[in-house]
Amino acid sequence: MGQRQFPEGFAWGAATASYQIEGAWDEDGRGETIWDRYCLVPGNVLNGDDGKIACDHYHRYKEDVALMKHMGIKAYRFSIAWSRIFPKGYGEVNEKGLEFYSNLIDELLNAGIEPYITLYHWDLPQALQDIGGWANPQMPEYFLEYAKVVIDAFHGRVKKWITLNEPYCAAFLGNSEGRQAPGIRDFSTAVRVSYYLYVGHGLAVDYFRKKGCDGEIGITLNLMGRLPLTDKPEDIQAAARADGYLNRWFAEPIVYGRYPQEMIEFYRSKGVRLPEFKEEHMKLIGQKLDFIGLNYYNDFHVKADDSVWPLGFKIENPKYVPVNDRNWPVTEQGLITMLLRMKNDYGIDKIYITENGTSFPDVVSMEGKVEDGARKDYLHRHLTALREAISQGVNVQGYFQWSLYDNFEWSFGYSSRFGIVFVDFNTQERIIKESGHWYSKVIEQNAV
Ligand code: NOJ
Repeated sequence: MGQRQFPEGFAWGAATASYQIEGAWDEDGRGETIWDRYCLVPGNVLNGDDGKIACDHYHRYKEDVALMKHMGIKAYRFSIAWSRIFPKGYGEVNEKGLEFYSNLIDELLNAGIEPYITLYHWDLPQALQDIGGWANPQMPEYFLEYAKVVIDAFHGRVKKWITLNEPYCAAFLGNSEGRQAPGIRDFSTAVRVSYYLYVGHGLAVDYFRKKGCDGEIGITLNLMGRLPLTDKPEDIQAAARADGYLNRWFAEPIVYGRYPQEMIEFYRSKGVRLPEFKEEHMKLIGQKLDFIGLNYYNDFHVKADDSVWPLGFKIENPKYVPVNDRNWPVTEQGLITMLLRMKNDYGIDKIYITENGTSFPDVVSMEGKVEDGARKDYLHRHLTALREAISQGVNVQGYFQWSLYDNFEWSFGYSSRFGIVFVDFNTQERIIKESGHWYSKVIEQNAV
């Protein structure tokens, strides 16, 4: 394999999520989700945006698949909207919801694009939030009911399954920082949510295994470096805590079937209320997975700060590195470090990069082009880093752009564009950006 070459059969992909692209928020029996509700509160989402129409993908999926095919994309990661399958979260199945995804899957397979399904990408049915959401110990069972229906319907045709997307964000951004739906600000609730999300994950994996499905099942985690800002002992400790909070709290239960003990003790010492971690649950959570999906965006520096309860740190950008329009630093070396850590420390033997990408204020030029050189540069750096990690022995089998399209970027609404395809949200016109054309070449040559 040449230095710039990727392994044969590498899954070159693009990723999206239901609430961010589908629109059709009240069609064919879809139920309300926590994001529909969250968007109603003024101030929650920039410019008062919401996902009611988004990329209108629900109506345009055929042309969207055709565009992916045209771009040479080999794999497509998308999520299922739970509230299309069970409008109230559980009970009677809404066949129309299943039908939409079934058609999408057929369309992808006919185009030679492999579907990767994410079961939960943050759009919980509102009816379930009304009874406590993921903080309710019953939620894992509801998730299992939902997962069963989807797995039963699509296993065989779909061989790649992801239970949860970024449980860290679902738990902490949604329930402690309130920056995402359901907009709760309570640290103890967030920890509880992180636990029941994982119990749900474990139940779904268990079902997939017992059913003997042909294919792979895993989870997508956002693991990113948290490095001490200085070599002062308090910053070093703060960075270890930040790593425990973001990375180890999520990686270790999956790999070892237990939560990091020093984080448990730290949380207790701060008066955080922890759920009872049951042994039978920990067994389910620690079941061996077929792969781990890594979403990698950036590393941050960490500085001790006692004014922040309970964590006692703040994050800062590393100095002198480029940033995107969200002020996110570009730190591609961190991708190598994290991949080596996953392999060497955690013994993870199969990884997909399930997301990587960046946001810039793209515009369409007079010639009708979108010249996003900075995104191309970001992608080039990360793919080069990825190639380096592979040459150091990390088994990475695929890479997914976040995102295929500009889309509803959660609390940033449509202001933050992550696509390699530009979307004009007035007309729904799609224009492949320069980075998208570049990505097609990478795919074609299987090399960066
Ligand atoms: C991770 C999330 O999975 C995705 O939904 C989001 O849009 C991107 N990060 C960019 O913030």
